[in-house]
Amino acid sequence: MKRIVVLISGSGTNMQAIIDACQAGKVAGNVVAVISNKADVGGLEKAANAGVETAVLSHKGFATREAYDLELQQLVDSFQPDLVVLAGFMRILTADFTRHYHGRMLNIHPSLLPKYKGINTHQRALDAGDSEHGVSVHFVTEELDGGPVILQATVPVFAGDTAADLQARVHTQEHAIYPLVVQWFCAERLRLTDQGAELDGQLLGAAGYADD
Ligand code: GAR
Repeated sequence: MKRIVVLISGSGTNMQAIIDACQAGKVAGNVVAVISNKADVGGLEKAANAGVETAVLSHKGFATREAYDLELQQLVDSFQPDLVVLAGFMRILTADFTRHYHGRMLNIHPSLLPKYKGINTHQRALDAGDSEHGVSVHFVTEELDGGPVILQATVPVFAGDTAADLQARVHTQEHAIYPLVVQWFCAERLRLTDQGAELDGQLLGAAGYADD
């Protein structure tokens, strides 16, 4: 069983979906710790309710991003993870941190990457008049929201949609695809190569396709 550490900053609904999938035996792994950079967020309570160890490491009080990330790395490594899962962890990571977890750190981003890296993705999709929007799971590299995409899900954009409508529609898809990608990783079907993300030895293009 792979050891999974999940990093959050908020409500932790993706974290919950992954914990649920693990506890249901759908993933060959266990969430051994949930770490938040913010105290008093809903995700910490959800993790505790699921019987998962939690820790808070606030970024406040650190002089530099490097100093925080080094401390965070030591905390994460104390749980000896095989996989680090970013699930709404709203921090820009240093290059050193991303390199340390190269090939064993995943992120979920609420857009059809490479579109709309960064924040406010739902509003930006609306402002652009897109007819489709969605979510991407990718390996984390030094480039913000730029690592190889593993799997995407699309949702339609309807006339009159608000950013909140889109966010809710995307969230539902997130909860389906993130546990699936975690399952692929834990089953050793997924890996990061110099060419990109590979599933079952096949290079994934802009998007992977779920068939199980
Ligand atoms: C998710 O929508 C995730 O895609 C997004 O934060 C939300 C966290 O929700 N992540 C990012 O924007 C990362 N750039 P959750 O706490 O309910 O899982």
